[in-house]
Amino acid sequence: MDAGLRPENGEQSSLTSSYLEEQTNKSGVLSCIFSLKEEVGALAKALRLFEGKGINLTHIESRPSRKNKGQYEFFIRIDPASSKDLDEVVNDLRTQISGQVHELTRNKEKDTVPWFPNDIQDLDRFANQILSYGSELDADHPGFTDPQYRARRKEFADIAYNYRHGQPIPNVEYTAEEKATWGTVFKELKTLYPTHACREHNRVFPLLEKYCGYREDNIPQLEDISRYLQSCTGFRLRPVAGLLSSRDFLAGLAFRVFHSTQYIRHGSKPMYTPEPDICHELLGHVPLFADPSFAQFSQEIGLASLGAPDEYVEKLATVYWFTVEFGLCKQGNEIKAYGAGLLSSFGELQYCLTDKPKLQPFEPEKTSLQKYPITEFQPVYFVAESFEDAKEKVRKFASIIPRPFSVHYNAYTQSIEVLDNTHQLKNLANTINGEMSILCNALQKMK
Ligand SMILES: [Fe+2]
Repeated sequence: MDAGLRPENGEQSSLTSSYLEEQTNKSGVLSCIFSLKEEVGALAKALRLFEGKGINLTHIESRPSRKNKGQYEFFIRIDPASSKDLDEVVNDLRTQISGQVHELTRNKEKDTVPWFPNDIQDLDRFANQILSYGSELDADHPGFTDPQYRARRKEFADIAYNYRHGQPIPNVEYTAEEKATWGTVFKELKTLYPTHACREHNRVFPLLEKYCGYREDNIPQLEDISRYLQSCTGFRLRPVAGLLSSRDFLAGLAFRVFHSTQYIRHGSKPMYTPEPDICHELLGHVPLFADPSFAQFSQEIGLASLGAPDEYVEKLATVYWFTVEFGLCKQGNEIKAYGAGLLSSFGELQYCLTDKPKLQPFEPEKTSLQKYPITEFQPVYFVAESFEDAKEKVRKFASIIPRPFSVHYNAYTQSIEVLDNTHQLKNLANTINGEMSILCNALQKMK
């Protein structure tokens, strides 16, 4: 327990608690959040209730409540083996309360569904649950022994760490060296795009040059690009301080949010980076997110991941790898690259269209099981018939994911609707009905 955050002010009084939320992850570990009035001994009283029933807490965190002033929120994890009498403890918490209580809603089905963001604002909740932070580089990273580069990486990580949904992404003044690195990458890759990139990439790229400052001597700003993407497909960028888990990263796509790095690779090796950097994001990913079909396809992967069991999130992450990162697609009689890992790598973009790698048709059930290397060129690529076809296939794949509900993204409220009751289904039917009327009306007029 963090003693520094223990409620300490005021007179001791009756326990006041609001049960806010609970969830279980796949391994059955139960976690919950409850809030207490900021009073001396309030937490100790609550903890005695758990102790009294032999319930072991394996983790506890606290913070001042953002919702209710003068209250503290406590996040706890409970050892599942000792959670038999949890209901009683929750009841005890509730019966000793004089203030308002949120009704506890818990059922067996929901207990097995991993938490996922319901609202675009919820992305703030996991944005900083990252696997590594800014200046923490591996020993074989080109910038490992460069203290200036590491300090710079920390600056970028701090921007992302402090970012909250709805804020403009802070602009960055890139150094002359950083611009030179960008310039080298930009110039080299641009020579390959007309022959190697898919037509969607080639259609959007000149628009990014026109509207977003894509130039050899200028590193475009994330905020400008994010605004532009929103006007094209509703996709937006969000800076990220480090590597997110697959589950969290994919959840962002469900809201048409792409977590993007803002730093650039080390200047000593402009044509190499061991991790995604701004060249990869801006030259590889961004052009495709401006395409409506591809944007929809990416969101489908994200929606399929919400509440999915861990093994299916892994499968979806593999599907993402072989499509959004390393996908090839048919265009007329030719095969072109649309994956960002290819479109941002001078070497692999050429290699992927030679006869060296093995090509297979994109079939999510099979693709999701394919093993892949992350530090060398891919030995296998999957070829999509089209983005529309790939989207339909991902939808079908999503339908076999074991979860007790379907989800629908409401673009007006930027939130996920869980379709598990007739009220939600009626609302969706009404929405579709409205759209169908517009379609029928338009068809009538065209006659
Ligand atoms: Fe990427």
